[in-house]
Amino acid sequence: MSEHTIRMGPFSPPLQSERAALQDDEARAPGHPAAGVDARVVPGPAPAALLQVQGVSIDYRTRERVVRATHRVGFDVHAGDRFVLLGASGCGKSTLLKSIAGFIAPSEGQILLGGRAVTRPGPDRVVVFQEFDQLPPWKTVRDNVMFPLLASRSVGRKEAAERAALYIDKVGLSKFADVHPHQLSGGMKQRVAIARALAMQPQVLLMDEPFAALDALTRRRMQEELLSLWDEFRFTLIFVTHSIEEALVVGNRIAILSPHPGRLRAELNSHQFGLHSLGSAEFQATAQRIHRLLFDEPAAGAVPGSVQADAEALAPGRRGGVALIPPQRAVGSLPFQISV
Ligand SMILES: Nc1ncnc2c1ncn2[C@@H]1O[C@H](COP(=O)(O)OP(=O)(O)OP(=O)(O)O)[C@@H](O)[C@H]1O
Ligand SMILES: [Mg+2]
Repeated sequence: MSEHTIRMGPFSPPLQSERAALQDDEARAPGHPAAGVDARVVPGPAPAALLQVQGVSIDYRTRERVVRATHRVGFDVHAGDRFVLLGASGCGKSTLLKSIAGFIAPSEGQILLGGRAVTRPGPDRVVVFQEFDQLPPWKTVRDNVMFPLLASRSVGRKEAAERAALYIDKVGLSKFADVHPHQLSGGMKQRVAIARALAMQPQVLLMDEPFAALDALTRRRMQEELLSLWDEFRFTLIFVTHSIEEALVVGNRIAILSPHPGRLRAELNSHQFGLHSLGSAEFQATAQRIHRLLFDEPAAGAVPGSVQADAEALAPGRRGGVALIPPQRAVGSLPFQISV
């Protein structure tokens, strides 16, 4: 498989080699039921994805008109993915995330988590937003992190306090556990929001441009910290951004959405990129390809955003064209869990 493979339309699971490597690591971990057991077993049938977004259209109905935010979008997210939704402003990224969170019902299609339809918000999906004011200002950092655990009755007070201490420490804010949000910088507030989300140990962590309001240096630092938290806890992440660079750094898979209404244009495996590859020739070339996909006019005669237009834009032989390959099936499951 090519290093930077772009697949068209629905869906590609993470690279098989990456998933197999992650599974091996997982199985070797002390305490894992498979630790010490020969991992070379006969592959079973492909497991269902953790999250399935199937043909989802979302409409906003106002008195005057109906605004279609996304049109028949579909993708699968597997446990342990860092799945990025990338697209221009107004293409429906936040709307899609809110729908996965259970705040907005799709007009058509469905969203399944663990095979069950998402119909309302739940503690298994936690959202981190862009805004610095997402923390109640009258609560200390510690109380902010404990609050959703207690409110959702996920755990008792003792465990909530233990989890809060752990995740506040993981985001480097132990010394600030007893201060209020107004005493924190924007980056620190976002760290609290991340600690609060991780403490819930959700099945899927949803992040909507969480670093977009930060200065460039802090944003870079936060990306680094998020990736090292992922290295430690291997949570499943859906991350919204309109920054191509951020998508390549943060994601192992990227779904590229067309402008309003958002449709899935292409999907990219980006596991090989990270902060280490910033500025490399391969990184730049891939960023340019994505840029063309996001903003180039479709080929003459093709309907904008249509599969024909996208296929022509990506055709091998065109400058920056890439080979299209059929979707593959996943192998094995990744039973990642955060244990405290
Ligand atoms: N409450 C609403 N009522 C009506 N239309 C809305 C509402 N919220 C969003 N929209 C419309 O839905 C479309 C998608 O909006 P959305 O906020 O999901 O885009 P986005 O991709 O997150 O953009 P951005 O990158 O600017 O955050 C836009 O055309 C927007 O105007
Ligand atoms: Mg948005």
